[in-house]
Amino acid sequence: DGDTFRFYSDGQWKRSASGQSLPVINPTTRRTQYNISACTREEVDQMFVSAKEAQRAWARVPLWKRAGALHKVAALLRQHKDVIAECLVKEIAKPAADSKTEVIRSADFVDYTAEEGIRILSEGKLLLPDSFPGNERNKLCLSSRVPLGVVLAIPPFNYPVNLSVSKLAPALIAGNAVVVKPPTQGAVAALHMIHCFHLAGFPKGLVSAITVNVSELGDILTTHPAVNCISFTGGNTGIAIAKRAGMIPLQMELGGKDACIVLDDADLDLAAANIVKGGFSYSGQRCTAVKVVLAMDSIADSLVEKVNAKIAKLSVGAPETDADITPVVSENSANFIESLVMDAKQRGAKLWQEYRREGNLIFPLLIDQVRPEMRIAWEEPFGPVVPVIRIRTIEEGVHHCNSSRYALQGCVFTNSIHRALIVSDAMETGTIQINSAPARGPDHFPFQGFRDSGIGSQGITNSIGMMTKVKSTVINMP
Ligand code: G3P
Repeated sequence: DGDTFRFYSDGQWKRSASGQSLPVINPTTRRTQYNISACTREEVDQMFVSAKEAQRAWARVPLWKRAGALHKVAALLRQHKDVIAECLVKEIAKPAADSKTEVIRSADFVDYTAEEGIRILSEGKLLLPDSFPGNERNKLCLSSRVPLGVVLAIPPFNYPVNLSVSKLAPALIAGNAVVVKPPTQGAVAALHMIHCFHLAGFPKGLVSAITVNVSELGDILTTHPAVNCISFTGGNTGIAIAKRAGMIPLQMELGGKDACIVLDDADLDLAAANIVKGGFSYSGQRCTAVKVVLAMDSIADSLVEKVNAKIAKLSVGAPETDADITPVVSENSANFIESLVMDAKQRGAKLWQEYRREGNLIFPLLIDQVRPEMRIAWEEPFGPVVPVIRIRTIEEGVHHCNSSRYALQGCVFTNSIHRALIVSDAMETGTIQINSAPARGPDHFPFQGFRDSGIGSQGITNSIGMMTKVKSTVINMP
């Protein structure tokens, strides 16, 4: 039907033979905004056949040409920024300005990846044998990095464009083919982004985008024998995918419960500004959002007062108006956030603002006096709700972080670099930010979660490395 967005396979936009579609619900209006194709198993299989074939040829395309193709994509993303951003506003209620930033950041990511690929993939290694006992200088080992094959990229709803290109670009520069399975909310923005790859003239089959009903075909995709690598960003589904995946490299970024530890010598204005930015930007729907504040008793009252003053200034409304707080992605998500708030309230936490919800729109909330028996001390709301736990010692704060199943990022506010480093050293967490809110970027920095927060390290350089394998040729001399 003419109203359903097609999927991209074999270098063409196709209608699904299923004739079925999936609705994309606008979180603000809670009405169907778009329809996407519900592809069939045969269409999934065909896509992988084409990807395999295209990949073999692509791996032999000179690196400078692969880089050139990616630079074209970056230019096209910039050119089509407004139309892609408009989809983000409608599908995931991301504020209008942030939606444009997501597209620009993606274009910058693609350009940087092309340049980084040129630098690191042109390097190989030469080893001589006589350092190992019993060997003479009679052979040479030449090793270099070769592509893995077909990468399955599964981005989440909160960055459907940026977290697609952060998988696509490293995979492609390294000589892989990519099949993208966009999130349902955000699929249309992702399909527009894929169109930039189409316009850039990549060989047919090398890049494809399949939209499926995940309850029917999710397992088929993630356990497909043609898949040589999975790069996934999202929630706990990633754990199930990892358990079922075969012997292939996995790059997983899953949940986070990023803590902000505020010590008694901290700059409290700086800490408060970062708690509000880190906790409430995109309404808290970021893996790296501040999801718990651990404040030393002696400064907690003053910190909370400063945070509350900033919360009072946040605008709340529709993403089109660029409000700071916009509706969360779905009714289910809003219900989940509400359940965490109610649990904390019933168990005696102090809500500094009145709890307000209108449809999927949840007003920003600071929940103080949170204790370990409350769900919100451990679970991630993925919404505009920040809990505060008061701590007596630094050790108590570190212990809380290290007891969490999540360990993506964390931050510590103090004016003593020595105390900051002691906390950073003690925290068993992927990244610790000193005197700033957690964040993935700049995008060439390593980005990784420990425990249930993920497997492998991202960041441009690490992703290129992860999407390749080492191959050696040994020259034996007579
Ligand atoms: O939630 C996805 C995660 O990668 C966060 O990215 O840039 O908001 O820190 P960022």
